[in-house]
Amino acid sequence: MSQPSAPGTSGGDTVSARELFGTKWGFVLAAVGSAVGLGNMWRFSYIAAEGGGAAFLLLYIVMVLLIGIPLMLCELTVGRKTHLSPIGALRQLGGKAWVPLGFLFVVTGFLILSYYSVIAGWTMRYAVEGITTGFPAAPGEYFGQISEGASAVWWHLGFMVLTMAIVMVGVQKGIERAALILMPTLFLIIVGLAVWAGTLEGAAEGYAFYLVPEWGELMDGTVLRQAAAQAFFSLSLGMGAMLTFASYLSRDTDLNQEAVTISFADFGVAFLAGLVVFPVVFALGLQGDVSESTVGALFISLPGAFAEMQGGRVVGTIFFVALAVGAITSAISLLEVVTSSIIDELGMVRRNAAISAGVVIAIIGVLSALSIDVLGLADQIAGDLFLVIGALGMSVFVGWFMKDPAAELARGAGTTFSRFIPAVMFLIRFVLPPVIAVVLWFAGRDAWNAIWEFFGVALGG
Ligand code: PHE
Repeated sequence: MSQPSAPGTSGGDTVSARELFGTKWGFVLAAVGSAVGLGNMWRFSYIAAEGGGAAFLLLYIVMVLLIGIPLMLCELTVGRKTHLSPIGALRQLGGKAWVPLGFLFVVTGFLILSYYSVIAGWTMRYAVEGITTGFPAAPGEYFGQISEGASAVWWHLGFMVLTMAIVMVGVQKGIERAALILMPTLFLIIVGLAVWAGTLEGAAEGYAFYLVPEWGELMDGTVLRQAAAQAFFSLSLGMGAMLTFASYLSRDTDLNQEAVTISFADFGVAFLAGLVVFPVVFALGLQGDVSESTVGALFISLPGAFAEMQGGRVVGTIFFVALAVGAITSAISLLEVVTSSIIDELGMVRRNAAISAGVVIAIIGVLSALSIDVLGLADQIAGDLFLVIGALGMSVFVGWFMKDPAAELARGAGTTFSRFIPAVMFLIRFVLPPVIAVVLWFAGRDAWNAIWEFFGVALGG
């Protein structure tokens, strides 16, 4: 297949016909925008609460440092070196045998965005509800009504249209500009909310629930799997999103520094989100609901709390607006993986590529909008299992098959970071594959069980 925008393979600095990020901050913010999203708030807080509070937090930090950052470096080097989207990049550096991994990335992007957009749709709806009528007094019932069915479909489609519109416009004018405005806004909002939450009565109990370690939980394979998969999901790793963004980078950027910046920013927002969620939930005595379901804390307890507390409507609206902002910058990156692959592989123009990909994803997503069980299953399969498979493939590729990745990592690296490169290479070759393989075992087991359960319930009535 032809690669219309493929640059030369010689490693030169000229990149014909490929749009690049206009500024260094443009890339960093777009990548942070990809990382920071519903995962930080919707997934992180409930997984942390279930997984043993501070003990989980520590495990998570270890995962980010030991696995997340090296894996991000794998994706960034491959993207920056080839200036191609995942399929073409893997073909160029690894030959035909690695093309399926690129396809897996694209499929994962399709699947994740299809349900991610449904959740983002709920988020937008809450934000609008906050502005127009206030939060519902019976949030559980309300959520039951809006989370599945026709109205969920409409909000999902609306969110997809928004995402498509930005991706259609292109890297600099669409993605970069959106990130430059939206990301700093989101940061300020989250910091403000965390400060506010600290003033609530009951905040101390919330902090205790979130931050007191329960070490016993850590020995559980599921918790280990969740910490790793959550790190991948939250850092947008294992499906080529970072690879794709790095393909719009010029060759002289310091990848090490950027990987560290992106990872810390992402962890920071996740941690802060916990500092908002738990005090609010405890202030109103709603802790029983938190771990009941994946969506309980965010879409039931919180709106319930906002409905009851003074000033809750304003703060709540701001919270859901921030969440929607995070969701859109992440959705952009998911759609960009698919879009750029279509542009590179099929030679379509950007606008048509974004529209065709977006329409297909929107249609698949209708299934998740109609049934929350489908949504949960899709998340378990794509968000947990596929990301882990992709991460394993990526680490094996860069560690063992790519030619001289260390040299590529060293390009543009400052002296401080250059010193870490041998250690990073060691992690990529000898630590990532075995650790991720163990995680894959548990992820496979849990996904398998979830599939059986799903069809058991579906068939059994
Ligand atoms: N990192 C995003 C979030 O936390 C989700 C995402 C996953 C985006 C994979 C791109 C790729 O919400």
